[in-house]
Amino acid sequence: MTAAGDSPDPQAAASRAQEVPAADVARAAALRDQLHHHAHRYYVLDAPEIPDAAYDQLFQELQALEAQYPALLTADSPTQRVIGQVLPGLTPVRHTVPMLSIRTETDTTAEGALRFDQQVRSFLASEQRRTLLPASDPRHRAEPLGADALQVLEGHPIDFVAELKFDGLAINLRYEVGVLVQAATRGDGETGEDVTHNIRTIGQIPLRLQGDAPPLIEIRGEVYMRRDDFERLNERQREKGGKTFINPRNTAAGAVRQLDSGALADKKLSFYAYGLGDVQGWDLPPTHSATLDAIEAFGLPVNAERARVQGAEGLVAFHQRIAAMRDALPFDIDGVVYKVDSRALQRELGFVTREPRWAVAHKYPAQEQATRLNGIEIQVGRTGKLTPVAKLEPVFVGGTTVSNATLHNVFELRRKGVRIGDTVIVRRAGDVIPEVVGRMPGARTQYVPNFRMPRECPVCGSTVVRERGGMDHRCSGGLFCPAQRKQAMLHFAGRRAMDIEGLGDKIVDQLVDAGLIRTLPELYTLGVAKLAALDRMAEKSASNLVAALDKSRQTTLARFLYALGIRQVGETTAKDLARHFGAMDRLMDASTEQLLQVRDVGPIVAQSIRTFFDQPHNREVVEQLRAAGITWTEGEGAAAAQAEALPLSGKTFVLTGTLPTLSREEAKERIEAAGGKVAGSVSKKTHAVVAGEEAGSKLDKAHELGIPVLDEAALLALLGTTPG
Ligand code: IVH
Repeated sequence: MTAAGDSPDPQAAASRAQEVPAADVARAAALRDQLHHHAHRYYVLDAPEIPDAAYDQLFQELQALEAQYPALLTADSPTQRVIGQVLPGLTPVRHTVPMLSIRTETDTTAEGALRFDQQVRSFLASEQRRTLLPASDPRHRAEPLGADALQVLEGHPIDFVAELKFDGLAINLRYEVGVLVQAATRGDGETGEDVTHNIRTIGQIPLRLQGDAPPLIEIRGEVYMRRDDFERLNERQREKGGKTFINPRNTAAGAVRQLDSGALADKKLSFYAYGLGDVQGWDLPPTHSATLDAIEAFGLPVNAERARVQGAEGLVAFHQRIAAMRDALPFDIDGVVYKVDSRALQRELGFVTREPRWAVAHKYPAQEQATRLNGIEIQVGRTGKLTPVAKLEPVFVGGTTVSNATLHNVFELRRKGVRIGDTVIVRRAGDVIPEVVGRMPGARTQYVPNFRMPRECPVCGSTVVRERGGMDHRCSGGLFCPAQRKQAMLHFAGRRAMDIEGLGDKIVDQLVDAGLIRTLPELYTLGVAKLAALDRMAEKSASNLVAALDKSRQTTLARFLYALGIRQVGETTAKDLARHFGAMDRLMDASTEQLLQVRDVGPIVAQSIRTFFDQPHNREVVEQLRAAGITWTEGEGAAAAQAEALPLSGKTFVLTGTLPTLSREEAKERIEAAGGKVAGSVSKKTHAVVAGEEAGSKLDKAHELGIPVLDEAALLALLGTTPG
């Protein structure tokens, strides 16, 4: 297909086309094909293969080519239409008031905002000039400009509303006499899709409006997914070994357009309203800001960060303020939106094609970018977990330069089909660590083997074990592993652990790398002289750190336990353990059964504590720390004290046969209440066998081993009660 073939005037086009270099004709055709393909993936399938920024780049390249050689322009060029398609399966909905799009300001610096203010002003000025033209001139404008416009022309700052640009899917909610009757996607702006069944599942969207609802009102806004809801969803997917989702936007858009609303059960969606569609029987407020307040009063969520600002400076300040808080927001935004507040002024400004002159979207740097995967390294975490980390060709994404990103685990890496040398998509949004979410399509030019997890810890050489249903790989080196040592020290020094002020990652790095400390207890041997010898460490900070170390010696058992960094033992569990056992030695010697008696301690936690204290080197560390002067007040430990005072504590019983009055269960409960344990079989450790009628082999075994046999009366006497 050549550009000339599409022109309405073949001859003229042919002569013009001759001026276009063949390479540019081919490039434009290739760009159109690619853009069509990616637009379909994005809008129709909700499964884009490339980041938005990469699409925009292709789009802009085509736009530039078409601007340079108008002959290249074809009717089907992606630059010539608003893309969007109605899926077969969802019912088309014709919007009574079209859903517009807005012009985008791609200058991501705050200055981009100045241009919008300028454009509004110069348009109003040109309109005013048209009123001065003679009536015979086709450009003549008969009606004079309104009061708001005249004020602007006199130099008054324009009142704007600045809002967040939510990164989700636009939705039109139609309320008739206050009841939600239909929800539709934007589609191509004229016709969308009926997604009422899915939208009804979003708790934030009222099925009935509050207050005095008009006969008809359409409320427009964005369905989106919060970052934490998205992370949780992906975490669940990872645990299941399932496919993870690329980003909150695609997930929300995909969910809304499901045919079966059951598919939304595990995806929590949210909504913010930002405007109106068709309205009947209701007087529109005179400003957009008042409209948003009214929408809020109807019971819909409207984001609180919206602001009424004055003039270009107001827009710039808003842009900067939101840029600074973007990462801290609980959801993704891809920019901010500025709107002229006065409705009268909006009318005056009108539209260019399908974009209002009174609104503009001002972008922030993209949160997804494509870059080359140069290598994969294994990072060993504090708990010994091995994580594959992507070493990337540095790329500017989400406002910073990223050269490392997580690949989560080897199974996810395989599923995504990512290999070294690929062009991958990196996402960095909010405080979440940058991650590789997929690879760009394209064939590899050479064979690259699949990545494999090492069998030995790359840091300490210990055997790598697989955990959590085989999903995680973990180093078994514990406190020996230098990687875990650094992190163990940081955790140990943490505010909620030993609270050693000034012992941050830089110092820990230096201390360990310089070989000054190899084990936790050695921390307490550090003197000012040794510390002051470190790079960038002044005498003052050295003595501060020594003082902080000294201060940390006096602590609590709960903090100390938490500080040890035992897997599965967080702050709360550490507190529970401290309260229960009261003393370190009692805890270290506690059996799995005894650990299970602690509130909220289940088999996995109990096992993890046991494993920790079964390692001789871990016990050594505890001893050395105590020797270094770490102390706390040991209590009796509520449960421990109680247990020791109980008549049967430390004694194990075996029940056999039928007792005259007590059921098996009752007997067991009473023994346990008195501090004893009930075991299922007789051994040398059994204290006594309680036998009733028709006792079986357990009684024989008791005789064999010479273990005392009690009847019910004897048991009750031991317990200090009589049957009742
Ligand atoms: S106003 C005529 N306000 O950005 C104005 N749009 O084309 C219509 N968006 O997909 C849109 N946040 O869904 C507006 N605060 C906001 C928005 C917003 C996100 C989306 C909208 C549409 C695109 C604009």
